[in-house]
Amino acid sequence: MTPFHFDRYSNFLMQIRGSKQVAVFPNFRDDIVPNDVCEAYMAREPSVTLWRDELDRHAEKFDFQPGDALHIPYISGHYVKNGAEDVSISLSFFFQTDETLRWSNAMQLNHRLRKWGRPVGFSPHPVGLSSARDVMKARMLPAVTGAGAAFHRVRNWLRGTRTASGASAMVAMAPWLDSPVASMLGV
Ligand SMILES: [Fe+2]
Repeated sequence: MTPFHFDRYSNFLMQIRGSKQVAVFPNFRDDIVPNDVCEAYMAREPSVTLWRDELDRHAEKFDFQPGDALHIPYISGHYVKNGAEDVSISLSFFFQTDETLRWSNAMQLNHRLRKWGRPVGFSPHPVGLSSARDVMKARMLPAVTGAGAAFHRVRNWLRGTRTASGASAMVAMAPWLDSPVASMLGV
């Protein structure tokens, strides 16, 4: 059995030998996969246990036989149970579109915005509701990621310098090194 999870891609699943039951859940549903969990997964942070028994009522279940094919949409939760046969062979084609790439990047930015805004109760709009907003967020991601990497390097350098020399100017910057700005930048 493949337990309940979701993927960063769209998927065409094809059955070649044996049988399976495939359960697919609606995507972009905060009550099934919470937005913050989905965004953290896109940012490649450790995943958390997602399954709750009450989720099963949302599943669309397919009895999968050789020759069958199924589209599992982007970030749709799904689980798979193998049939009684001893061997089950299937083939997956994972793929991205411009839209799913945009969603993935916007979710990574949302993950950073969520970390930054949590102390002040700010929560970003979920991805998938406004394509204009998603485009803007996706375009911002490289700049924020680059700024985060630069900040990380500067912070490490400052910490090393402070340890070595105790320079007062560096000490004065210390509060900024662990500030919400640093958190937003993901460092
Ligand atoms: Fe999967």
